[in-house]
Amino acid sequence: MKKSEKTKIAILVSGGGTNLQALIDAKKSGVIKNGDIALVISNNPSAYAITRAEMAGIPVSIVVKKEYGSQEAFEEKMLEVLKEYNIEMIVLAGFMNILTKRFIKAYENRIINVHPSLIPSFCGKGFYGLRVHEAALEYGVKVTGATVHFVNEIPDGGEIILQKSVYIKKDETPESLQQRVMRQAEWKILPRAAEIVAKQLRDKK
Ligand code: GAR
Repeated sequence: MKKSEKTKIAILVSGGGTNLQALIDAKKSGVIKNGDIALVISNNPSAYAITRAEMAGIPVSIVVKKEYGSQEAFEEKMLEVLKEYNIEMIVLAGFMNILTKRFIKAYENRIINVHPSLIPSFCGKGFYGLRVHEAALEYGVKVTGATVHFVNEIPDGGEIILQKSVYIKKDETPESLQQRVMRQAEWKILPRAAEIVAKQLRDKK
């Protein structure tokens, strides 16, 4: 029997793109076997993630919300580009925008996100980037980590795919914690989760 084509993945980014880099490296090293990174969309024209994608030879589309006037029109444009590239699965890798029900419905159970805490702690609206680590330190938890989950209409509320814990050290700063959570958790579980979902979608074809 002929094996079906690999799952076509788009990565949505807004910033530095270290998680995008982890995905690119995982594709090269063979951790991601059942998917191809076919497109990167950035909603921030100055994101370093764009350079990372270009260096890896991945097509990039820059879609800026304020150029489209509304969240709906912004999402409509992204859906158009995703369709153009026949994208079957989406990875949110530091994408700083909350998607509406309509967009999520168009890719139901096909969008995953990485969040820098152990959900259900320090997540939901307002918890993004460094803010998540500040909140963990303010609370005084001794263990934090990262979560990869499916995206549904509840911010950070979809089914969990993988989690990894990270111990908090003495004299930790939000910045040092962010770095360790990325290195020890996010960059490991995001590629693994992407492979799990890409394989599921490929097997379904
Ligand atoms: C990562 O820590 C990611 O988990 C977080 O933003 C950072 C992006 O870094 N995402 C969120 O907080 C989403 N709620 P990167 O651009 O270097 O991958």
